[in-house]
Amino acid sequence: RLSGFTVAIDGPAASGKGTISKAVARHFGFAHLDTGLLYRAVGAKVLDGQAAQAAAEALVPGDLEDDRLRSPEVAQAASRVAAVPEVRAALVDFQRSFATRAGGAVLDGRDIGTVICPDAQVKLFVTAHADVRARRRFDELLGKGIETTFEEVLADVQARDARDMGRADAPLKPAKDAVQIDTSEMEIAVAVEAAVSLIKAKMAGSA
Ligand code: CDP
Ligand code: CDP
Repeated sequence: RLSGFTVAIDGPAASGKGTISKAVARHFGFAHLDTGLLYRAVGAKVLDGQAAQAAAEALVPGDLEDDRLRSPEVAQAASRVAAVPEVRAALVDFQRSFATRAGGAVLDGRDIGTVICPDAQVKLFVTAHADVRARRRFDELLGKGIETTFEEVLADVQARDARDMGRADAPLKPAKDAVQIDTSEMEIAVAVEAAVSLIKAKMAGSA
């Protein structure tokens, strides 16, 4: 097919998939799409009173730049709208055309390896224990000046895990051919190195 190399990175909240994706994109010169931002942008519009499907269908790139998209409140709204099949359907074409661009692309989310890019050359499923993920996200939010508590962040992570794994449409789960990386006790640099090695091996194999 006439497209570049696609890397699909899925996993639960604050597992490290975004950090790994950015580093991999930088390493190989690939474009990176954080697909969670699409759902967060729709969630934010719903909090503002819009209907979920209409908000997803009218989404524009500028909608992804709002600072408040990182808040736990918007994260919860994102995971609620993400269970609506019409919302997911409205976002498919944009993600697929991003994934198949020339020059290579990394997409991170929940359903990239299973639904959006089932033909991705490399699929990773990044995990970590929920308490470790909540601690990381809590530290990150504090660093950004977002007021919250560890308990609130843990509750957000656990509620989203359950909702994202339990929904009927595109649930969070590893693709059959995904390589799993548990980052609970792993420095992020080690996880990035593992991802880079895997991609290099695939590139060499398919060249
Ligand atoms: O960064 P974090 O992992 O906390 O969340 P995110 O990736 O920004 O995703 C926010 C929410 O969007 C998730 O809890 C999912 O419900 C939803 N999402 C999804 O359903 N499918 C994706 N490909 C990406 C995100
Ligand atoms: O994208 P996702 O929600 O999966 O997670 P992230 O934003 O990449 O990572 C959440 C936070 O955990 C970031 O501040 C990372 O720097 C940190 N992290 C870490 O300290 N060690 C890891 N092995 C992975 C992530």
